Amino acid sequence: MKLTLTINGEPHEADGVWEGESLLYTLREHLGLPGSKNACEQGECGSCSVYLDGVLVCACLVLAAQAEGREVVTVEGIAPEGGLHEIQQAFVEAGAVQCGFCTPGLIVASHDLLARTPRPSDPEIREALAGNLCRCTGYEKILDAVRLASERMSR
Ligand code: FES
Ligand code: FES
Repeated sequence: MKLTLTINGEPHEADGVWEGESLLYTLREHLGLPGSKNACEQGECGSCSVYLDGVLVCACLVLAAQAEGREVVTVEGIAPEGGLHEIQQAFVEAGAVQCGFCTPGLIVASHDLLARTPRPSDPEIREALAGNLCRCTGYEKILDAVRLASERMSR
């Protein structure tokens, strides 16, 4: 099956996509976009979070075929060319990145949160990131990072 979609603002085509293939697999294995991580492949960890037509989804739960003709934004599309997004910078500075496996999903989910709620309360941050699991940081530094990004982005 051939798939045509827009990713990070650019048109893309993928050939040889299997009908049962997930969008996550297509992004990583057919389109050279390994930023979205595959940690559970069951919708449990959030490490594969992407936007599909502006809505945050777990790419492992979306069939690639469902993305035909639609717009996908991955973590690669959030960072400006050659640099880091303010959220990514805040994660680095706050020490919220350890093994980094959860980080791309957390960046996309935090981006979604701050677009909707520029100055979120701690409960709002916790709720927005509840679907993103991290086995390393204990979450406090992730909260610090989102608070820092929120402060900087709201100036
Ligand atoms: S890999 Fe998609 S939610 Fe875990
Ligand atoms: S930094 Fe390792 S899982 Fe979050």
